[in-house]
Amino acid sequence: MFAFYCVEWGMRDLFINFITTLIVDKIQKAEYYRFTATDFCWFMETLMKKLTVKKLGYSLGAEVLGVDLSEPLSEDQLRIIRDVWTEHQVLVFPKQELGPETLLTFSRNFGELDNFSSQPFNRHPEYDEIFMLSNKPIDGKIPPGSTGGQNWHTDLSYTTRPAKATLVYCVEKPLVGGDTMFANMYDAYDTLSPVLQQFLDNMEAVHDVNLITAKRPPEIVAEFARLNPPVVHPAVRVHPESKRKALYVNPRTRCFVGMTEAESAPLIKYLSDHSISPKFIYRHRWSVGDLVMWDNRCLTHLAVGDFDRSEIRHMLRTSTMGDYFGRYEDENAVAEQKRTAGDKKLAVELSTLHD
Ligand code: SIN
Repeated sequence: MFAFYCVEWGMRDLFINFITTLIVDKIQKAEYYRFTATDFCWFMETLMKKLTVKKLGYSLGAEVLGVDLSEPLSEDQLRIIRDVWTEHQVLVFPKQELGPETLLTFSRNFGELDNFSSQPFNRHPEYDEIFMLSNKPIDGKIPPGSTGGQNWHTDLSYTTRPAKATLVYCVEKPLVGGDTMFANMYDAYDTLSPVLQQFLDNMEAVHDVNLITAKRPPEIVAEFARLNPPVVHPAVRVHPESKRKALYVNPRTRCFVGMTEAESAPLIKYLSDHSISPKFIYRHRWSVGDLVMWDNRCLTHLAVGDFDRSEIRHMLRTSTMGDYFGRYEDENAVAEQKRTAGDKKLAVELSTLHD
């Protein structure tokens, strides 16, 4: 009877939620099967093929259920995904079954794919547009990218075409940890004093690949620097879709243009610390099958590195190219980068080095 009224009066959602709550409660009381509320919601949403968005964090992050990313998506589904991505900055699509091809197809919905010529050391053996975040040995050697991303950053801020979207698919994960954290750079900017906001609105800052802290062999560090001469970006950027201002200063920023490094350092430290206030953060605990997609134009992120290195953490990453943005600090450096970028043979040789 209750079901009849719910459906009849267009209250399908209420009915599903009611049934979900009842069944989850029963299952949890039964104790012999640990089936979480999220598992059940995923099951119901997938069954109904209904795209549902649930907020994951106060400041940023949302989970998208009821969509199978291995299948072609309708224009309506894509429009919703793009809109909620702009709103929540980080989207998590749990329980996906993706291979390299389907990951690439889904990623292309968000722009032109990067072939990682600025960091060609960890590419997938067959697909240049897939970057491996992995400590899985290849021919007995641990790939050099396995300790990447462990200082707060936004992808490719050390280039003149920083990444727009980054998409990471979790293939294998350690028993615990291996988390990724995200910080909301709109909130970081909005909570500065008007005086500091106004100062930063008029500043540019130098981003330097040498400030990546990952432990890498010296050959890779040198090649990374050769491919990526320092670049200058505005300290605050306006997001092209949301039109909101986001702080664009992080620990990979060397100095402000017109200020010395000594003068810049305390302000960069202050802004970097401020931008990762706990209330601006979403921390993602990975499950196998998660596809997480984030917007580099308005957040920074960090691979926490909190896992046992004898266990495997294996993720596939794609990035879409953002707008051309910023300029080289030293114009003469450009020719060198153009000459060497995409030297595949060298990249393949370097990518077989130990980390
Ligand atoms: C990254 O910085 O893109 C890597 C994130 C991660 O491995 O958690």
